[in-house]
Amino acid sequence: MTKVKIVYASMTGNDEDMADILSEDFENAGMQVEMSEISQTDVQDFQQADICIVVSYTYSDGLEGHIPDEGLDFYHDLLETNLTGKTFGVCGSGDTFYQDFALAVDNFEQAFQTTGATMGAPSVKVELAPDQEDIARLDQFAQTIINHFQKKD
Ligand SMILES: Cc1cc2nc3c(=O)[nH]c(=O)nc-3n(C[C@H](O)[C@H](O)[C@H](O)COP(=O)(O)O)c2cc1C
Repeated sequence: MTKVKIVYASMTGNDEDMADILSEDFENAGMQVEMSEISQTDVQDFQQADICIVVSYTYSDGLEGHIPDEGLDFYHDLLETNLTGKTFGVCGSGDTFYQDFALAVDNFEQAFQTTGATMGAPSVKVELAPDQEDIARLDQFAQTIINHFQKKD
């Protein structure tokens, strides 16, 4: 059975909601999903997965790469991990009030690129809480990753 690991960072619940939506999408495709909060997750957990997903909000309080504080250790470990052969995807919520809208999504995407994993779908950025249109984009994101993964085999 295909294994999906979804790691999320969420302060007020928007990214957790997005992770839940993706979780349901992958489960509906018959995949086995494990979801966990970023500060409670070891990057090595990705070694047991076929598809690796990060869902993160962006926080610009002087933090490196606008990565949430509780996700910095995970981010640094990701940069040093070999995930060759795996498929990855990144999405996250931000607020267009800020100049660097959802920058953590770009930074996690770049970190994944260094791991040797293959990007399964273009990253998705959501304005605050996911609305109906965003949910459709997240469903499409999951479907694109599923198609990409199935074509690989
Ligand atoms: C202090 C602070 C700084 C933030 N900085 C940014 C930022 O630079 N870019 C951005 O897109 N959103 C920024 N946000 C907005 C959050 O990313 C946004 O509210 C997001 O939806 C929170 O997701 P969550 O509900 O999963 O915690 C910031 C929020 C706070 C409170």
